[in-house]
Amino acid sequence: MNTGTSMQELEWWQKAVFYQIYPHSFADGNGDGIGDFYGMIDRLDYLQELGVGALWLSPHYPSPFFDCGYDVADYTGVAPEHGTLDDFKRFLNEAHQRGIRVILDLVLNHTSDQHPWFIESRSSRDNPKRDWYVWRDGKGGGPPNNWYSGFGGPAWEYDPATGQYYYHYFFKQQPDLNWRNPEVKQAMWDAVRFWLDLGVDGFRLDAVNTIFEDPALPDHAAEMSLPELYHQALQAASSEAGQAQLVRQTEVMFQYQREQPGMHELMQELRTVVDEYPDRMLVGETGEIAYYGDGTNELHLAFNFPLMKTTRITPTWVRANQQERLSALPPGAWPCNTLGNHDSPRVYSRYGDGQNDDALARLHLALMLTLRGTPFLYNGEEIGMTDLPLEDISQFRDNLGVWVYHTVVNELGMPPADALAYANYLGRDKCRTPMQWANVPNGGFSPAGVRTWLPVNPNDAQSVNVAEQLDDPDSLLSFYRRMLRVRKQNPALIAGDYTVLHEEAEDYLTFLRGSVADPSTGPSASSGHASGQAGQTCLVVLNMSDQAHTLNFDLDAHTAELVFSSHARGGDSDDLSQLTLAPFEIYIGEIKRKT
Ligand code: NOJ
Repeated sequence: MNTGTSMQELEWWQKAVFYQIYPHSFADGNGDGIGDFYGMIDRLDYLQELGVGALWLSPHYPSPFFDCGYDVADYTGVAPEHGTLDDFKRFLNEAHQRGIRVILDLVLNHTSDQHPWFIESRSSRDNPKRDWYVWRDGKGGGPPNNWYSGFGGPAWEYDPATGQYYYHYFFKQQPDLNWRNPEVKQAMWDAVRFWLDLGVDGFRLDAVNTIFEDPALPDHAAEMSLPELYHQALQAASSEAGQAQLVRQTEVMFQYQREQPGMHELMQELRTVVDEYPDRMLVGETGEIAYYGDGTNELHLAFNFPLMKTTRITPTWVRANQQERLSALPPGAWPCNTLGNHDSPRVYSRYGDGQNDDALARLHLALMLTLRGTPFLYNGEEIGMTDLPLEDISQFRDNLGVWVYHTVVNELGMPPADALAYANYLGRDKCRTPMQWANVPNGGFSPAGVRTWLPVNPNDAQSVNVAEQLDDPDSLLSFYRRMLRVRKQNPALIAGDYTVLHEEAEDYLTFLRGSVADPSTGPSASSGHASGQAGQTCLVVLNMSDQAHTLNFDLDAHTAELVFSSHARGGDSDDLSQLTLAPFEIYIGEIKRKT
């Protein structure tokens, strides 16, 4: 299914566990209610001890914050609320000193409408920057066509001063750049080089699939309006068939605005810019394998988003996902797994069952750290932070939630209480609340009495905080730290092939990670992994059920030496014809030939 790799052959971004920092919410060093670089610097020791090897920073650039930072007003600056460029440099340097790499968010599709480029562009039809954005004449007294913005409302905004419309895939405060203009590319590649020159290790590329539109601007042929689509989404939330129908309608609606020709050439061009610098990487906000190019010439990584698109992570779901994903990767391409980020519900809330949430959170981390590929974790996940639904629309900072609320109230006549629930469901504030550092006022994120930019989840008082969990060897945080160490110390879990076992099992997921797919022809008992490369084979068993199971592996000539278990086990070595697992047990054993 995939080719074994030795640790020596791997690049840093294949070995590291990435950790996403949402700068507004990670650590408030100057006590103003907003996260900043002072806070991030103070917490680097924490991150080092957690065991992460790389950080992805959501946008830290100056921004009016209409889309919570994804509306950039200066690509080479630092938002004053986060600090200065010197603070950033100190952060980068301190991270590097601890062996932690740093990648930045790169928002290519659009700028803020407050970016000087756009202010110039809209100033007159013959401004030299006019063509840096997508300006068109209206049609029949209205916009150029019937396209929607992915964030609601029409995709075209009329500009009375110059009598034309500009295109925005996201909010109207985020006008799309015209990537067909070579000057745009030049300006953006200059910004890319600016950060690479400072020593930044790479970029996470925002919204890569919306960079180009069909230049002929054909009308879409969807059978419903966007609010109707939202309404149906609500009704179909729990039905697979309803969801599939929605996906189809959405595809039709945005057919001419996503995944247009030109993307891959653009990514190749960006790759050559990044390749001017040794050891840098690109990861795309896309689930499309096509963005790996031929495996060497586009993005280094594309997220395995399909894995997240379920309400429950089950063994059957994971096996099917891996089967499809790994077999589709081009030669040399490296997988990349994640279950959460700043746009999706908290992993703990989303994939919990309300009864075994803690056990499931542990299983989900174990899955991330043992599947083949680079794992991305999201800040706060390690202490089990949960979604915080907001109580009033005035608390919302995510304008997507605000738009949803007003649309369903005004256009669909939904009662305000239901609309609030729906806005919380589709909005993203719930997963962006401040990091809970301690069981003290404001969760230790900001000093007592300071109004934090989003409310702190009050469950910091129920042990969902760093300080208490650090002191507790049984906490989720301690588990994260242990599991990250286990991954680092066992090369098979990083470099090894993935070979699925028990293909039909519904309750548990079992697979081998090793340099040799068939351990019966594999390493002898003496071929330990001390060399840190090929030779080690690990058996991973994730019991995702509340039932105990006794498993038989067809590996009679072998035993498994305990590498890790979430439960107390009788001894250090296990018979593979009869491996008994407790409910929700996570078991990792190193396969050794019997002597
Ligand atoms: C994807 C980002 O992750 C999301 O937060 C943002 O709203 C959109 N792109 C627009 O930039």
